[in-house]
Amino acid sequence: MAMVCLTDFEQYAKEHLSKATWDYYAAGADECCTRDDNLLAYKRIRLRPRILRDVSVSDTRTTVQGTEISFPVGIAPTAFHCLAWHEGEVATARATEALNTCYITSTYSTCSVEEIVAAAPNGYRWFQLYVYRDRKLSEQIVHRVEALGYKALVLTVDVPYTGKRRDDIRNQFKLPPHLKVKNFDGVFQETGGPEEYGIPANTLDPSISWKDVYWLQSITRLPIIIKGILTKEDAELAVEHGVQGIIVSNHGGRQLDGGPASIDALSEIVDTVQGRIEVYVDGGIRTGSDVLKALALGAKCVFIGRPAVWGLAYKGEEGVREVLQILNDEFRLSMALSGCRNVAEINRNLIQFSKL
Ligand code: FNR
Repeated sequence: MAMVCLTDFEQYAKEHLSKATWDYYAAGADECCTRDDNLLAYKRIRLRPRILRDVSVSDTRTTVQGTEISFPVGIAPTAFHCLAWHEGEVATARATEALNTCYITSTYSTCSVEEIVAAAPNGYRWFQLYVYRDRKLSEQIVHRVEALGYKALVLTVDVPYTGKRRDDIRNQFKLPPHLKVKNFDGVFQETGGPEEYGIPANTLDPSISWKDVYWLQSITRLPIIIKGILTKEDAELAVEHGVQGIIVSNHGGRQLDGGPASIDALSEIVDTVQGRIEVYVDGGIRTGSDVLKALALGAKCVFIGRPAVWGLAYKGEEGVREVLQILNDEFRLSMALSGCRNVAEINRNLIQFSKL
């Protein structure tokens, strides 16, 4: 089967994963309005292409946090890659190393950070962090990933509680017994009590607040990127608290249903931040022209969540490589067809605001 676009991988994953696994990856919160709007919002945006600009040579490279990557698409943190492919995150790490882009490893990986780094020693990686009620747990993992050469911490701030994902409740979704949240193997003892997605319920700290950003800064030298900001007010607070980046994100529509599509929240955040720190976006990116639109609206780089998992479900490392390569090819083509030779030439003039 020739895989032509990302929805081909989605179709494959839907046909080949178990229903409970597919439902878990696909899930949005409640009525899935925000999840679905993440995609639809890109389709509402129209471009203003420029012509006759000699696009015979094009360059998709960019930098994030001062490091060069081959094109402005990285992998967002998603949990439980072993559910999609037996090698799990190790395969994802190899694919992103091969394509020279950024892989944000989820706290809820089914391979350990040590296994991930050993599998792709030269990969460029950030680590996604949650804050636990037991701060020592968070502190230990921060020191572990720092020692392993992770280049930034991505603090996810939109999960004081887990969103209500109806299908997971109906399916009574849990990690199968042969899989574990490997980074915390032996730490979260089997309590026999209520569990959420493979770890005991109530381990995340819902009292987390801005002062915890200072706490995190006090225990690490790594740059801190806050993931899950959707308003200019919080973007301003993030800058004031001295973090190095923001990922505009609604968690793929899995948390608050009824919030904005992430691409619709991007502009007010970019306007507020005024280039003081880098702004990234995730949620709903399925084509190269989606990437172009996000960059035109001010994102430095975008991240894909579910499409990477579909790539894994298709063919492990090779599948993730194909997903990234297709996005790279489509992005390069969209750039050329709109008259951009490199990412520095992508700007707001590409967007037809009168149609929004
Ligand atoms: C996620 N996401 C997520 N985010 C995070 O910070 N830590 C995590 O462990 C997870 N886990 C996770 C699992 C699954 C199955 C999905 C679909 C998503 C959110 C993720 O990082 C990202 O914000 C969205 O997936 C982006 O939307 P798209 O690209 O899936 O549309």
